[in-house]
Amino acid sequence: MTIQHPSADGLWHNLRLADGGTANALAVQHGQIAWMGDVAAVPTAFTRLPHIDAQGALATPGLVDCHTHLVYGGQRANEFAMRLAGASYEEVAIAGGGIVSTVKATRAASEEALYAQAAPRLQQLLDDGVCAIEIKSGYGLSLEHERKQLRVARRLGQDFGVTVRTTFLGAHALPPEYAGRSQDYIDLVCHEMLPALHAEGLVDAVDVFCERIAFSLAETEQVFKAAQALGLPVKLHAEQLSDMGGSALAARYGALSCDHIEHLSQAGIDAMRAAGTVAVLLPGAYYTLRDTHLPPIEALRAAGVPMAVSTDHNPGTSPALSLLLMANMACTLFRLTVPEALAGITSHAARALGLQDTHGTLAVGRAADFVLWDLLEPSELVYWLGQQPGRTIVRQGLVALDGLGVL
Ligand code: NIG
Ligand code: FE
Repeated sequence: MTIQHPSADGLWHNLRLADGGTANALAVQHGQIAWMGDVAAVPTAFTRLPHIDAQGALATPGLVDCHTHLVYGGQRANEFAMRLAGASYEEVAIAGGGIVSTVKATRAASEEALYAQAAPRLQQLLDDGVCAIEIKSGYGLSLEHERKQLRVARRLGQDFGVTVRTTFLGAHALPPEYAGRSQDYIDLVCHEMLPALHAEGLVDAVDVFCERIAFSLAETEQVFKAAQALGLPVKLHAEQLSDMGGSALAARYGALSCDHIEHLSQAGIDAMRAAGTVAVLLPGAYYTLRDTHLPPIEALRAAGVPMAVSTDHNPGTSPALSLLLMANMACTLFRLTVPEALAGITSHAARALGLQDTHGTLAVGRAADFVLWDLLEPSELVYWLGQQPGRTIVRQGLVALDGLGVL
């Protein structure tokens, strides 16, 4: 199934850039942004393109959701109830719930079933203006089932015409059949699963859950070494529940990002700054777990570490399907400024995926990925709580949604 959308080729005029830039028009030709500037000075090469009146809408780059676990079987509403009754994330995991219960449901599901469950979730994120998304494995925990997840992620990217970056998260949890044999499982991840999935072209980056209830610092480093040997970039679920020193380790391996980081130390921040690693903030998980330990926003800001914001969509700790809502929560819960939140779901999120040269900012020569919003001012993008503003979405040079009726 491939969805056909109309071409976005044309001279889009009467728009306002949300980042304060002065251009009021842009030309899309052959699916690429060919020119940006003042409509009064359009080069003749573009005057013959169809003129599209953006009706004064606010333009942003396509949004980037840089941390999701979108492909999985089942759901975990029962844990929501357990936590409401007082159980912690760790207690739920130790009681046999948590990641491992989604592993069971994911293993039991066929590739088709996983696709059918993930597709409407993806559509909902796309409807929010997402033009590039990361999708992790990590609910298969065997070669066969991790492959199934990653293949679904790739197919979603092709079928929906959206940039998908796949991340292999084989070291997400210890599968039940390896209970008490953590090192054996890490060996399997490093020497069998990762090389095989990489050879099949299914892996763009490698991630680990480094935590007391998941994998140690030493185990994390083994996975990083295996990734490095294959030339794959790494990222890390780091310092979510405790300060394990994972971020500093990840920075030593040139990590694209460290994610969650509620318990990140100053040493970790310094290492991330030196390595150019992005701090990915996940307010959906913070909120769902009713966490109270804030990530060190002020210190990250002072150090100049780029901060991204993502849904962390997953069935356990963040069943969230609106990136705009996450931007709102990053402001309200974490005290990001509006410009920080907007960079967090565009340019900094693209950097967290290594996509900074192609996504997250509007620039000539890039694929046309942008959103026109029926909003008066940029702060409205993060101000409305759960509202989906009127919008026209251009993704990969095609008009994926024309809510403003500009065509
Ligand atoms: O990003 N922290 C680890 N991984 C996920 C949760 C996965 C789950 O609970 O299913 C996260 O929050
Ligand atoms: Fe996550």
